[in-house]
Amino acid sequence: GRGAAVVAAVARRLAAQRRRLHTALAALLLPPAILWELRDKMRAELEHGLKRETQAQATVKMLPTFVRGTPDGTEKGKFLALDLGGTNFRVLLVKIKSGRRRSVQMYNKIFAIPLEIMQGTGEELFDHIVQCLADFLEYMGIKGARLPLGFTFSFPCRQASIDKGTLVGWTKGFKATDCEGEDVVDMLREAIRRRNEFDLDIVAVVNDTVGTMMTCGYEDPNCEIGLIAGTGTNVCYMEDMKNIEIVEGNEGKMCINTEWGAFGDNGCIDYIRTKYDREVDEGSLNPGKQRYEKMTSGMYLGEIVRQILIDLTKQGLLFRGHISESLRKKGIFETKFLSQIERDRLALPQVRHVLRQLGLDSTCEDSIIVKEVCAAVSTRAARLCGAGLAAVVEKKRENQGVERLQITVGADGTLYKLHPHFSRILQETVKELAPQCDVSFMLSEDGSGKGAALITAVAKRLHNVGQK
Ligand code: GLC
Repeated sequence: GRGAAVVAAVARRLAAQRRRLHTALAALLLPPAILWELRDKMRAELEHGLKRETQAQATVKMLPTFVRGTPDGTEKGKFLALDLGGTNFRVLLVKIKSGRRRSVQMYNKIFAIPLEIMQGTGEELFDHIVQCLADFLEYMGIKGARLPLGFTFSFPCRQASIDKGTLVGWTKGFKATDCEGEDVVDMLREAIRRRNEFDLDIVAVVNDTVGTMMTCGYEDPNCEIGLIAGTGTNVCYMEDMKNIEIVEGNEGKMCINTEWGAFGDNGCIDYIRTKYDREVDEGSLNPGKQRYEKMTSGMYLGEIVRQILIDLTKQGLLFRGHISESLRKKGIFETKFLSQIERDRLALPQVRHVLRQLGLDSTCEDSIIVKEVCAAVSTRAARLCGAGLAAVVEKKRENQGVERLQITVGADGTLYKLHPHFSRILQETVKELAPQCDVSFMLSEDGSGKGAALITAVAKRLHNVGQK
C-alpha cells in the first residue's frame, strides 16, 4: 500500500545519502599499504635530517637538543619552569628531592595569552611572559630568590648548547614579529632586564617533547622517546651521537627534537592530502608548512571536520542544506568538543546537545553524520601519527642492533589524553607497523613543565661540578 511505498522511498533516499557520505569520507581512509609507505617515507626524512649533506634542506629538521641523558635521581633543588606553546601558558615552581625519598612537588599557575599578544611583536610577547612570571613570584613570595629556570618553549629551535635556542619559525597559533632567527633565551633575559624587578638564572631551553621524555625517564629508564599529540604534534628520541653528523663527538647519545610536524612540507605526502586538508592549510597562519601536523593535531582536526561539514551541507546531506553562521566560524570545533562527540555510548540527543552548544541545530540524522565525520578525521590522525612513531621505534631498534626492541614512549597532549580513541588507535597502528618492537606508552602528567625543571637540575648539577 501507500505506507510501504513511502517507507521504500525514504529507505532509497537514505541509501543514496549514505553513498554520498561514504564517497566524501573515502579520501580519509588509509589502507595498510599506504601506512607502510608513510612509515618508510618518515624514516627516510629522519635520515635526511641527521646527515650533514642533506640536513640543510631536510623538512624534518632533527634538531640536536644537547640533552645527553635522562635524570638519575640525584637531582635536587628548587626550580622555576615556564611552559609556552601548548594549550595553556604556565609558570611552575618545582621542588625536587633526591635520594631514598626522591620526589617532585609542583605549584603552578595558568595564564592566558591573548591573541593580540600571540600575534603582536616579540617584545610584547616576552614582556607579557615576564609580567606573568612576576605575578607568580609575587604570589609564591619568592621574588628575591634568583632561582634557576627552565624554559619549555614548544617550537622548533636550533640549539648550540642547552641554554641557547634560535627560533627557526613559529608554528601552531603563534606569529609574533621579530622572533624568528633570534635566541629566545636572550629575548627572555632582555625582557627580565627591561622590567628590572627580579633576576633569574636561565639554565635550559627545552622542547615539550623533551620535557615529556625526561619526566617519564625519571620513573622508567627505558623511556627514550617523547611524544606530544596535542595542539601540535612532535616527537623526540635519544639518538646515538655517531649518527648526529652535525654535532661533534661519537660517544653516547643525545636527544633529537625531530619536529616531525613538518613532514610532507616537500610534497611527499601530498598524495594523501584531501581538498579539506588543503583548505585548512590555506586558512592557517603558516600555509604550506607543518603539513603532517595539520592532519594529526588538535589545533587542526576540528577545522578539517568543519570543512567536511560545510561540503556535506553544500551537497544537501546535512543541516537541511543550510550553512549557518556558526559553521562559518573558524575554530569552533576544539579538541574537547571532538572528544565529547566521539565518546562511546554518548546517546545522539547528547551529541545534538554538544552541537547546539556550538550553535549548530541538528536533526537526529545530522548528529549521526557529524559523529561519523569526527571519527573518520580522528582515526586518520591517530593512524598517521602511529605510522610516524613506527618509523622512530624501528630506527631505535636498528640503532641498537637487536631482533626485538623493548622501549617506552612518554606521551602527553590534549588529543592523546582527552580523546576517547586516539591513543588506542595510535598504539594499535604502531604495533601493526613495527612488529619487532614492544612499545609501552607512559602518560606523562605535567611532563613539559616538570621535565624542564629536571633538565635544569641536571644541567645545574653538571655545571656546578664543572665549576669546582
Ligand atoms: C609544534 C612545535 C613543536 C612542538 C609541537 C607540540 O609542532 O613546532 O616544537 O613540540 O608543536 O607542542
